[in-house]
Amino acid sequence: MNPLSSCPHFHLIHQNQQIRAMLTILRDRNTDRADFIFYADRLFRLLIEEALSMLPYREKQITTPTGSVFTGCEFSSNLAGVSIVRSGESMEAALRCVCKKIRIGKILIQRNEASADKAPIHYYTKLPHDIADRHVLLLDPMLASGGSARAAIEILKEHGVPESRIIFVNMIAAPEGVRSICSSFPALQIVSCALDDYLNDEKYIIPGVGDFGDRYFGTE
Ligand code: URA
Repeated sequence: MNPLSSCPHFHLIHQNQQIRAMLTILRDRNTDRADFIFYADRLFRLLIEEALSMLPYREKQITTPTGSVFTGCEFSSNLAGVSIVRSGESMEAALRCVCKKIRIGKILIQRNEASADKAPIHYYTKLPHDIADRHVLLLDPMLASGGSARAAIEILKEHGVPESRIIFVNMIAAPEGVRSICSSFPALQIVSCALDDYLNDEKYIIPGVGDFGDRYFGTE
């Protein structure tokens, strides 16, 4: 499902009542931290399963215990996760739950409130040595203006990952961020649970969930 016709590579996961109910709990200011973590983790699992379905597969034949030959499929590429520190780290456990032995890199970028253009500052990157040979799930739960995500994608490209091999996985996206990423990286794919209305003056997603990292990690 794609509600933004100008961004053909933006995908929303199927909006059933279960997804809506879990997002309602996350959005509620009265939800306590334990429930926030519990439902965020459940949604992360679903999101990551959806992202995995967007990867390339090839045909595979196996023989079942009845002796029948069955034609199915298998992953045809290597995969890595890369989290944008700090909120993206909240998605790593869900990725490890569904992908045994997944290699996970990290990129630390922060907004630069001091500079006039607010260009994000890059502090730290650690990636698997063969990242250029892998598809990458880039993890960050909130896509707001897209500044950090754009910087992280540029770093992945500098390390040899073509944008067509990157899937940006996030829980809640603002239209401003989606448009910015899609226009800068037209071959990259984005998968989200929700497309919200807009960014406010403080760059919070509206209606949003507030500060995701603070609510997940208990630093409010
Ligand atoms: N990051 C957050 O945690 N929340 C927002 O609304 C936007 C960015």
